[in-house]
Amino acid sequence: MKCPKCGRIRESCRHVSRDDVRRIVRLLDAGVEVYQADDDRESPEPHLHEPVRPVAQVVQPRYSMTDLVLADPTKEGILDALAELRHKGLMYRRWGLKKVVKKTKGLSLLFAGPPGTGKTMAAEAISSELGRPMHVVNYAQLENMWVGETEKNIEHVFKAALDAGAVLFFDEADAVFQRRGFMATPWMNRDVNVLLSQMENYPGIVILATNLARVMDRALDRRIDIAVEFPVPDAALRRKIYERLVPNEAPLAKGVDFDVLATKYLLSGGSILNVVRQAMRNSLRRGKRHRITMEDFTRAAEREMKKATLLSTDHLQEAPRRERLGGYA
Ligand SMILES: Nc1ncnc2c1ncn2[C@@H]1O[C@H](COP(=O)(O)OP(=O)(O)OP(=O)(O)O)[C@@H](O)[C@H]1O
Ligand SMILES: [Mg+2]
Repeated sequence: MKCPKCGRIRESCRHVSRDDVRRIVRLLDAGVEVYQADDDRESPEPHLHEPVRPVAQVVQPRYSMTDLVLADPTKEGILDALAELRHKGLMYRRWGLKKVVKKTKGLSLLFAGPPGTGKTMAAEAISSELGRPMHVVNYAQLENMWVGETEKNIEHVFKAALDAGAVLFFDEADAVFQRRGFMATPWMNRDVNVLLSQMENYPGIVILATNLARVMDRALDRRIDIAVEFPVPDAALRRKIYERLVPNEAPLAKGVDFDVLATKYLLSGGSILNVVRQAMRNSLRRGKRHRITMEDFTRAAEREMKKATLLSTDHLQEAPRRERLGGYA
């Protein structure tokens, strides 16, 4: 590869990254031809028969590992994944793993845990640690946009993520990977098969997040390289989450005690964020110059606990199959 700016002939330089080179090689392999811009050039035939496929939502990751407060086993799982992703070349080529598995495998992760425990955040953190964008897939969209075309949509989503060098994130993956036969619709089973085989052959990174690891397809077990559990944080972690989520700038009154809040209210990180915001609202309703008091926090936390109970009751009545853990939401 010769860089037009510095004229260097090598794998990469200041202007052309290794990723750029890989992308160019991939495009050339696919038969893409490159032309100089030319106004007289005939406009290409429009691809009338090619439907516009739904693409995943492209998310620029906002969080890094330091934003996350996690239990040790959860953190270990993520650090394992990062170790492999950062040193994949070494593992597969220099250490010869490629000879054993016959291909450069991608990495598939399963993040399982109740709502608001940091799964989406962790996926973003992994993407940002690797300097990659994240493609978030909503399965309902894949299924609905082009009825009968789910299979192609799935393939398209995988290909688009690979081309962009993105981390592919299936949120609410349980909707996708309902245990086969569980939903008992044959077309659905076929889609799951397509998904599983795409995952098996995918050389990139896929992360599946779910609240219900138990209903996930057993066939997934074999295809998941690292399964990471995201439990509801214990009191010590909840305390750290309060410290992380209450900004230093927030005017706290004397007597605000995160220890007490953390011990008394069993809440997920997502719910703690709600508590912090509600405590701020409580204080603002007295006026801008008031400090945020412990009373503001306890009222907010009580409210959040009630909300969680309400949500889980409603949820269970509407959809008895989806088991949600009460009190966490
Ligand atoms: N472990 C954590 N450390 C720090 N902040 C957290 C943590 N967990 C949750 N939060 C806070 O809660 C918010 C919501 O978390 P997140 O969206 O990652 O949860 P989730 O596990 O993906 O939930 P869901 O299953 O509902 O999608 C985060 O943006 C963050 O502010
Ligand atoms: Mg999420």
